[in-house]
Amino acid sequence: MQTVLTESPADAADFIKLGGIVAFPTETVYGLGADIFNEAAIAKVFEAKQRPADNPFIAHIGGLEQIGQVAAEIPDNAQKFIEDFFPGPLTLVLRKANDVPLIATAGLDTIGVRMPRNPIASEFLNACATPLVAPSANISGKPSPTSWQAVFEDLNYRIDCILQGESTEIGLESTVVDCTGSVPILLRFGSISLAMLRSIVPETRTYHAEVNEAPRSPGLKHRHYAPNAKVVLIDFKSEISNFELQISDSGRNAFIGIHEPDTDLKLRKICGSVKEYAATFFEFFRECDRRNIKTIYCETVDETGIGAALMDRLRRAEAR
Ligand code: TXA
Ligand code: MG
Repeated sequence: MQTVLTESPADAADFIKLGGIVAFPTETVYGLGADIFNEAAIAKVFEAKQRPADNPFIAHIGGLEQIGQVAAEIPDNAQKFIEDFFPGPLTLVLRKANDVPLIATAGLDTIGVRMPRNPIASEFLNACATPLVAPSANISGKPSPTSWQAVFEDLNYRIDCILQGESTEIGLESTVVDCTGSVPILLRFGSISLAMLRSIVPETRTYHAEVNEAPRSPGLKHRHYAPNAKVVLIDFKSEISNFELQISDSGRNAFIGIHEPDTDLKLRKICGSVKEYAATFFEFFRECDRRNIKTIYCETVDETGIGAALMDRLRRAEAR
């Protein structure tokens, strides 16, 4: 059936109450929601996204009072992050509550929990009156959706409803931090940076620091964020002359970055800041595919603040 488009959070929530699946805006990317206690609805999310079964979902809550429905306990470190960053673009991995079905967590006894700060997301989640699982609302592997139109492009006919909002403010998925051990571990980079986390809990470290551990975030091993076009990263400062040589077929090439390249290209986007670059590159990737671009050259940025998250996504898109 054709996907229903609505601007009404209450109307969208009605689909959830009937066991349906609904895409909705958040401050990071659009999510695809299903009632976390409805296993059949969660199965529909796997199917609609063509998501690998071993990739766990994040529980989305509309208010702090719902945490106890999804998490069994809140360790001290998690409590500190909650005080500073909830609601916002941060997901905390906690021990899951017994009632959360294993299909939501891909069999894990932990669960990611996030409380979005986007007002439409809050209104929608509160109207649902239950926590939702909500992966990004794209076909698995594709660039994440930062507009309702991008969701429609991937999921029309595959989901019940799209709650329409503005293009997302941040444009990158939430920071994921595992709080189940003695020190917090940053599993996925996002707009809440390692430095911001360390200002609250100084011991916080990145996952990569320990090589002998089993993968903590199953989703990270899958193909991600990739347009059909090939993605090539270039360091503008050191490689620019090289870059000009590489552009032999400029009619089918594109560029996104901060500096203006002195080369003919079919499509280019020059961003005024790293923040703008991070907010717009997923949509730029989609635009490149619509325009049948062959290679997208992406300028590298310094890996501080949101630059670390942007570089993480660009590398994954390049490595597909
Ligand atoms: O910003 C976001 O987080 C968006 C919006 C919609 O809220 N959601 C999102 O969900 O990005 P998804 O499903 O595309 O990515 C979830 C990530 C995956 O990398 C997954 O492996 C990790 O979170 N994750 C989820 N539960 C986990 C758990 N229990 N332990 C470790 N990693 C987990
Ligand atoms: Mg995703």
